[in-house]
Amino acid sequence: MDIQTTTQTAQTVVTDALIVTAVRKSKKDGQGVQLSSIAATIDKTLDNLISELSAEGEFKSGLGELLTIYSLDRLTAKRVIVVGLGSQNKVNTQSIRHASAVAARHAQNMGAHTITLALQSNGSQVETDVQAQIEGALLGLYTFKIYKQSEQTNNGKNVSQITILTEGNTDTNAIEQAIEQGRVLAEATNFARTLVNEPPNVLTPTELANRASNMAKQAGLECEIFDKAKITELGMGGLLGVSQGSAEPPQFIVLRYRGGQPSDKGIAIVGKGITFDTGGISIKPAAGMDEMKGDMGGAAAVLGAMQAIAALKPRINVTALVPTCENMPSGTAYRPGDILRISNGKTIEILNTDAEGRLILADALSYAVKEGLSPIVDLATLTGAIVIALGNVTSGVFSNDEQLANEIVAAGRIAGEKFWAMPMDEEYGESIKSDIADVKQTGGRAAGSIVAAKILEHFVGDAKWAHLDIAGTSYVDSKKPYQEKGATGVGVRTLAELARKLSE
Ligand code: BES
Ligand code: MN
Ligand code: ZN
Repeated sequence: MDIQTTTQTAQTVVTDALIVTAVRKSKKDGQGVQLSSIAATIDKTLDNLISELSAEGEFKSGLGELLTIYSLDRLTAKRVIVVGLGSQNKVNTQSIRHASAVAARHAQNMGAHTITLALQSNGSQVETDVQAQIEGALLGLYTFKIYKQSEQTNNGKNVSQITILTEGNTDTNAIEQAIEQGRVLAEATNFARTLVNEPPNVLTPTELANRASNMAKQAGLECEIFDKAKITELGMGGLLGVSQGSAEPPQFIVLRYRGGQPSDKGIAIVGKGITFDTGGISIKPAAGMDEMKGDMGGAAAVLGAMQAIAALKPRINVTALVPTCENMPSGTAYRPGDILRISNGKTIEILNTDAEGRLILADALSYAVKEGLSPIVDLATLTGAIVIALGNVTSGVFSNDEQLANEIVAAGRIAGEKFWAMPMDEEYGESIKSDIADVKQTGGRAAGSIVAAKILEHFVGDAKWAHLDIAGTSYVDSKKPYQEKGATGVGVRTLAELARKLSE
């Protein structure tokens, strides 16, 4: 993608689609649509067409609402897209990001090849706005069409150039930097989305390790891949147990970014990498099982975050750990009743082979603890219960440290991703006491997401730790104006922001 800035005006910029904004005025300001200053100049050139259509109620400026006008040579822009930012007093960075995504996607669907963004919120933080516009546009333009022979290039509908209209803003350095940050974060998110969208016959554990290794090479990260022999040597009984029913060998991916003091151990980010979850012997129902190709969404988020961190270079050491395997039923599969020994020596009584995520995470968390990394943040499409609790809107945060939980929620707000802290009271640990092993694998239906987190907590020792359950937010099964059906890349931008925050 070619991204540039221009000091040309809205009337003279040559583009397939010029994207401008409006807000809905509050009651005390007399309601109605308020055009941004750029939209207002365009409106004049177009003989007040935008304000007339607004007055007639054809455009109300709701968040993400679109009004497309062909300029019929009155402007050098082929068309103008007015996108609503919603209520005036609710406009924030996320409104800009969202509006930019909707408008850019719409422009691409209409066949625009070049788009010009002028979505500044008339607020003070020009750089934040510019970054949000770039992030939004690149996320909105994302498609996954590599397996559709007839749509190799989305039917030729392909935006290949984005111009940011800076109008009078002379601090080009700051703007260039904002563009770069937006690009890095969006590209890392889209990298994660592709990993999730890839079919499970292509994205096997070995292929996930290959992609991690290639990304690491390009980004300048250290990379180690542990094969089955090394995993066995390390005693990772969770990862070995889950993978034993599959023809695909397990892998354990370790990436390192060193931006902090060499003496500082740094933080760990850990991602669940089940490349396909059939449920194993406790097999899942057929309907919707295809979506379980996305059970490596945590792994994808962690790898995407490492790509972003390598480019943004915060002063902190970050180790990424990704245990990856398939969960398959077969004659060699692990069974309910089995007892597995995790690499820290603790045993788990298996009750349902579909609760596999916590087992491979237990090994990865133990590894992080052994290395002395803290805080440890894991991401996992861990439980169906979190989808019942928080839907597809918000990811659950489970932590043994209130401040860390708050920092994650705050980082998410900056990144445009919603997180909500869930309770972790001791009582939730009652149901996983086992008669014959150190801990039970499941504790019944009640509070399933919290109990899963309580099991993970057994493997984090004294480290500060947070677990993010992204089962509801990592993959969406319906298309939206701002994104197609499939992976969202949730977690990438929050982790990158968290690393930046923790580096201060
Ligand atoms: N990968 C699933 C969780 C999941 C559900 C992810 C829906 C994305 C969408 C996980 O491995 C799983 O199967 N969890 C079980 C645990 C249960 C057996 C204790 C669940 O949530 O039903
Ligand atoms: Mn499962
Ligand atoms: Zn799973």
